[in-house]
Amino acid sequence: MQLRIFKDYPALSDAVASEIVELAKSNPEAVFCFASGDTPRMAFTMLAAKAREEQVSFDRCTFIGLDEWVGIPPENEGSCHSFLHTTVFKSLHISPNKIHLFNAMSNELFKQCETMDKLIRDIGGIDLMVVGIGMNGHIGFNEPGIPFDKYSHVANLDETTQSVGQKYFKQNSSLKQGITVGLQHLMEAREVILMANGAKKAPIIKKAVEGEVNNDVPASIMQLHEQGWVMVDEEAASLLED
Ligand code: PGA
Repeated sequence: MQLRIFKDYPALSDAVASEIVELAKSNPEAVFCFASGDTPRMAFTMLAAKAREEQVSFDRCTFIGLDEWVGIPPENEGSCHSFLHTTVFKSLHISPNKIHLFNAMSNELFKQCETMDKLIRDIGGIDLMVVGIGMNGHIGFNEPGIPFDKYSHVANLDETTQSVGQKYFKQNSSLKQGITVGLQHLMEAREVILMANGAKKAPIIKKAVEGEVNNDVPASIMQLHEQGWVMVDEEAASLLED
């Protein structure tokens, strides 16, 4: 794992957007797995602008959605579906057959997991994952206590995730479960960027980066990834040792 600290959120977002563009330039068939959430929002907005400026095509790339709230329909603005469509897929003009998201409305969530695992296997793995970190140290819906060797699965969401998650929704929503790509996928991804910004993320970034590698803090798995980049702004890095 390597740590990169940026002055502020725009500088962090710009660097992440550049990494994505550079990968698409060097590998026009790259497989991306993107998180939703407040953290990557600016990077994804900048990505669209950079792709236009540099005339980089993402047409042959594949996009996988990291996770989804179980029972939240895709048209709900708080869904991961809606976020990724609005911030990434529409602006990069990605064709639907290149987009693979969990259907969290399915009655057969287990099959959704199997389908995602098969897709990732068949496509040759993920080239770049871009993820955030929850206030409880989760990545996607890999909640505290999750074994590191799990692939896609349905998770019961812990209380922090249920309450913090309300920020994405206009109305109070029932957020009991999530469906997610697993940490084993993260370990097998060729490159992972974990982003965090703001002072509120400083305590959990300290645990993830400097604490014991332990599934109580799922994001501590980043310490084991040889091509893992923890990219943070100065506020999120403020509690780290010099
Ligand atoms: P955020 O969410 O980007 O909205 O802070 C991060 C997460 O819960 O993974």
